Amino acid sequence: MAITTATERIRTIGGRVLRGRVAIGGAKNAALPAMAAALLTEEDCVLENVPLLEDVVVMTELLRALGAEVDLDTERHRVRIRAAEIESFEPPPELVARMRASFLVTGPLLARFGRARSIPPGGCQLGSRPVDVDLRGFRKFGAQVEVTESGFELRSGRLRGCEIYMDYPSHTGTENLLMAACLAQGTTTILNAAAEPEIVNLGQILQDMGARISGLGTSRIVVQGVDRLRGYRASVLPDRLEAGTLAIAAAITHGEVILDHVREADMAPLTHKLREAGAEVWWSESSMLVRAPGPLYATEIQALPFPGFPTDLQAAFAVLMTQAQGRSRIFERVFNDRLRYTSELQRMGARIELIDRQQAIIEGPVKLQGTAVRALDIRSGACLVLAGLVAEGETIVLEAHHLRRGYEDLVGKLAALGADIHYA
Ligand code: EPU
Repeated sequence: MAITTATERIRTIGGRVLRGRVAIGGAKNAALPAMAAALLTEEDCVLENVPLLEDVVVMTELLRALGAEVDLDTERHRVRIRAAEIESFEPPPELVARMRASFLVTGPLLARFGRARSIPPGGCQLGSRPVDVDLRGFRKFGAQVEVTESGFELRSGRLRGCEIYMDYPSHTGTENLLMAACLAQGTTTILNAAAEPEIVNLGQILQDMGARISGLGTSRIVVQGVDRLRGYRASVLPDRLEAGTLAIAAAITHGEVILDHVREADMAPLTHKLREAGAEVWWSESSMLVRAPGPLYATEIQALPFPGFPTDLQAAFAVLMTQAQGRSRIFERVFNDRLRYTSELQRMGARIELIDRQQAIIEGPVKLQGTAVRALDIRSGACLVLAGLVAEGETIVLEAHHLRRGYEDLVGKLAALGADIHYA
């Protein structure tokens, strides 16, 4: 798998009802930190159920650039990483600029080698995305953090356990500090920690490596530092965002879809809102059936850290709101500029009033009209693909390469469920 930069388009003819069964893959936002965690040990780490995404390829190249041996087996969805000999403590800026998760190598490098250097990470443009929480945490561990013109220079002796209060429960910030704390001397307490399932997955992998962690999935994580960590063999948890995107696709087309390999607890925020909107959700072990035989109704969503409604499904849910009877409301409380995609939906005929950069009112139901629209990032791209499923005529999603960063074959999966969709 290579990194593609080609501008791609996705064409959809709307109006098909989705039916069938689809297997959900591993979560991007769990695979990337797990790969970074391999830097904490010189032993072999093997990660299964790795989604084949561009961001995973970027992390593969980034770890290789640091000196790790990385073998991505695309057939088995498995990556093997051995970071026995690290030669560089500075991930290549061109890779760091591509995704925010690249900053996750700084915590492990600092904890194991006492040094790291990085430019500020790039990634989807969703508003301000600082790394202050990470940097303040590193300082608390006793590291010297220098902010230079080109980025950050981190140096330290062995990190010292400490109490860290996070101003905001940052997702990647919690992961970075959690990884660093595992090799610190003494006890670290992280207060106001984030509790996303992907962070719990990372914590369990770290435990498998010999880390002593309690409080995972709560806002207070306690870590007893150890001198060294061993390798791991672990599996990436199912992607609640891929599952959520397909579940919303099933609901808006009034179809009936079974999603296999999904975890009920991770899906709870979406499940509640789907049911409130009139869709049916049924569970049988790790399979989720979504159907919407009747009308959809207006709802309100507030995007918040887990277990709040996932900000990454906010745009997809907006499409459902355009198909629902009444006045729906979105309050995006995680990012301060993640409603820019609404102008693309408006171009398709959606009736959306932006109150400010974080709040929108959507009136429905509206028959969307197919046209050419532009993906701005991973999740807004998925939103426009879903809009195309219910639009009249042909929708062309431009700059669809964003989707490859976060979804493994979304187009193929939707086509297998009956959508008229293909890359063009
Ligand atoms: N924030 C601060 N200070 C900080 C760090 C963050 O105020 O030091 C604020 C940000 O400004 C932002 C909010 O906190 O408004 C959320 O940022 P957070 O750091 O929690 O999110 P992230 O780590 O940048 C991860 C995911 C995102 C996902 C968010 C929220 C990864 C690699 N990325 O981002 O995923 O939207 O958490 O759950 O895990 C995606 O997959 O498409 C994606 C954008």
